[in-house]
Amino acid sequence: MKTSKSGRVIWLTGLSGAGKSSIAAELERIILQQGNAAYILDGDKVRCGLCSDLKFSPADRKENVRRLGEVAKLFADAGIICIVALISPYREDRQLARRLVSQGQFLEVYVNAPIEVCEQRDPKGLYARARAGEIKDFTGISAPYEPPEKPELELPTDRLTIAESVEKILNYLATADK
Ligand code: ADX
Repeated sequence: MKTSKSGRVIWLTGLSGAGKSSIAAELERIILQQGNAAYILDGDKVRCGLCSDLKFSPADRKENVRRLGEVAKLFADAGIICIVALISPYREDRQLARRLVSQGQFLEVYVNAPIEVCEQRDPKGLYARARAGEIKDFTGISAPYEPPEKPELELPTDRLTIAESVEKILNYLATADK
């Protein structure tokens, strides 16, 4: 397997249920199939290990984003395409992650589905629990989400299939590599 001459950080940000993890999995599958190295850092997974001490207060989310930004940088330094799938609700925190790598190495992708759509999908039943008051500080319901102002890419996942979203990211990478 080849590591690319310049590793990258593909940072997928958006609400829970917007499609970040599904896009990350399909993107990784295709990058690996093409013979390049890729690795996913997914919020739900790292919160079981590296970030198991963190909850969902603003300070904990900030630390979650900081840690994954640092780990993503290590992967990128090693020439690996690191796909980060994280709500990462605060603009400033995402900005700090961006600054850890060289210009052009960080691709912020806004995985954008309206809250109504995410809530309707509710794959883990968390929106229903948040509405019932069983989960507090839930992003989009009782905690903020600050959308990116100038993401490299925006994917309206209420109108795109997973495959179409992944294709847009791959096209962006191919153009950027020229
Ligand atoms: S982040 O805000 O710190 O970037 P992260 O992406 O790691 O969040 O974790 C989000 C996942 O945790 C969601 O997809 C959901 O499954 C779960 N979760 C549990 N409680 C919350 C909450 N209060 N707000 C958002 N997501 C939550």
